[in-house]
Amino acid sequence: MKYPRVYLKSAKDKVVHGKHHWIFSGAVMNAPKNLKKGEIVKVYDSSSRFLGYGFYHPQNTIQIRMISFDNGDPLYTIKQNLRNSFRLRMSFFDDSQTNCFRLVNSEGDGLSGLTIDKYDDCLVWQISSAGFDLLRKELLDIILDVSRELKWKIRSIYDRSPRNARKAEGLNDSSGLVWGEEDLQEVLVIENGIKFLVDVVNGQKTGLFLDMREMRILLSEISKGKKVLNCFGYNGGFSLGAAMNNAYTTTVDISKDAIESAKYNFRLNNLDVSKHRFECADVFDFLQCENLSNYDVVIIDPPAFAKKKEDVYNAKRAYEKLNKLVFSKVKSGTIVLTCSCSFHINQDEFMSIIKRAGIQTRRKIRILSKHRMSFDHVLNLYHIENDYLKSFLLWVE
Ligand SMILES: C[S@@+](CC[C@H](N)C(=O)[O-])C[C@H]1O[C@@H](n2cnc3c(N)ncnc32)[C@H](O)[C@@H]1O
Repeated sequence: MKYPRVYLKSAKDKVVHGKHHWIFSGAVMNAPKNLKKGEIVKVYDSSSRFLGYGFYHPQNTIQIRMISFDNGDPLYTIKQNLRNSFRLRMSFFDDSQTNCFRLVNSEGDGLSGLTIDKYDDCLVWQISSAGFDLLRKELLDIILDVSRELKWKIRSIYDRSPRNARKAEGLNDSSGLVWGEEDLQEVLVIENGIKFLVDVVNGQKTGLFLDMREMRILLSEISKGKKVLNCFGYNGGFSLGAAMNNAYTTTVDISKDAIESAKYNFRLNNLDVSKHRFECADVFDFLQCENLSNYDVVIIDPPAFAKKKEDVYNAKRAYEKLNKLVFSKVKSGTIVLTCSCSFHINQDEFMSIIKRAGIQTRRKIRILSKHRMSFDHVLNLYHIENDYLKSFLLWVE
């Protein structure tokens, strides 16, 4: 197949040689007029040396998203990358213990602008690049093909594409059933041997915060028999792990639906909800009133306070306020897990915020562990931008 050619400016091909997937508009020397957003192009350096294939976008600042760095057919590369990403997960997850995980992690799997989460036999895709948006039909065929090859039974595929990312690519909102059984809205899954009922259509993110799996394992281990406060608890993930280990848990979330599903998940795992506490409340208010010296473990896993660059200043203040509230009220010898999923605040910046909160509350604090990434959220060594999640496990004296 013949693809249009795009040439980069002199010395602007370094990123491509470094196998980074994004080429910004300032690097493009010339491209044919009237290219459609998302169209596949052949990318050349200023000396007409071929560099690879990419999705072109005439308006976005990320003007090219590289598909491949060689001469192979780009659709074949996409299929091969999908196959490899499926296989990678198969080698790490035992379905009888964990059957929900991220199958495709965008650039982490060489597929810029595509994520797919697997909840048992239901897949949820998120398309945030114009390129994959144009290739929806081909993508569906490839996914079904590869699933058949690997003998994976797929019942439904849903679209939960993120609005903001799509807006940046000039794409309309997109959600709903893509393929398969229509009424498969709630899926029963298992994570680390714990059952969850997941609402893949209306739940937060694509249903579960799959990216915290390893930290949930770690916390369940250290919470044995302890009193655990799970702030921003969503559908009870951290609480369930702890409660299964005989901890007494308090789960706080502002969303009524989240608290109801946390209770449901407790029952699903034969845990007595009357022996645990569930609060539908704003964590900031709750922490003001609560006696935190009653707890041995406190988890703070808020939503991203900085969703955009412009939010960073206020977000830093909110993280500081939250951590100060906790540090100022916990007893000596409390374990605190503090997290940030704000893409625009990096690990060093987050650590500085925690340091400030510690100094201002005059607490002696040690780091027991840093964030443990989940294997399904693979990062691409050459394109590290997807590393948004930070957490520190602290010992507060
Ligand atoms: C990142 S998620 C937590 C994920 C959870 N730790 C898990 O492992 O599944 C953030 C949660 O905070 C809740 N939330 C957002 N703002 C809140 C607030 N001010 N007070 C309490 N909960 C809040 C959301 O409803 C959401 O469930």
